[in-house]
Amino acid sequence: MEIHIINGPNLNLLGKREPEIYGNQNFEVFFESLKHQYPQIQLFYFQTNHEGELIDYLHSHGFSADGIVLNAGAYTHTSLAIADAVRAIQTKVIEVHISNVFARENYRHHSYLATSCVGVISGFGMHSYTLAIEALMRI
Ligand code: DQA
Repeated sequence: MEIHIINGPNLNLLGKREPEIYGNQNFEVFFESLKHQYPQIQLFYFQTNHEGELIDYLHSHGFSADGIVLNAGAYTHTSLAIADAVRAIQTKVIEVHISNVFARENYRHHSYLATSCVGVISGFGMHSYTLAIEALMRI
């Protein structure tokens, strides 16, 4: 099974960025622990701050991977283009958020991506990614 985790803008700063909201763990370190936890899954990780690169990556892996875990960061709330890309591909996509976006500012309550995803996981810290992998293994 092949699963890709994709992180969008500002998520390269996890561990340093607003730790009271996003925690103090660096994503690369967390990703290594995920690979140990799921040795049976081929896990890949990609992060970019650029909308077009997120779309290119979805196009490149969205017809061959078994699942995609997508934290598009603020693009979740703004990007029709990423929503169209998620709709255009065949691989199942789960939208994830580290924070509970529904407990935050109103502008974070709407997701352009959610209707194109199989589901949304929000608010469990880094465990949101683990829960998304568990969900992909079961669907
Ligand atoms: C986020 C929530 C978004 O609203 C925010 O813009 C992010 C991170 C999260 O993981 O909680 O960059 O996607």
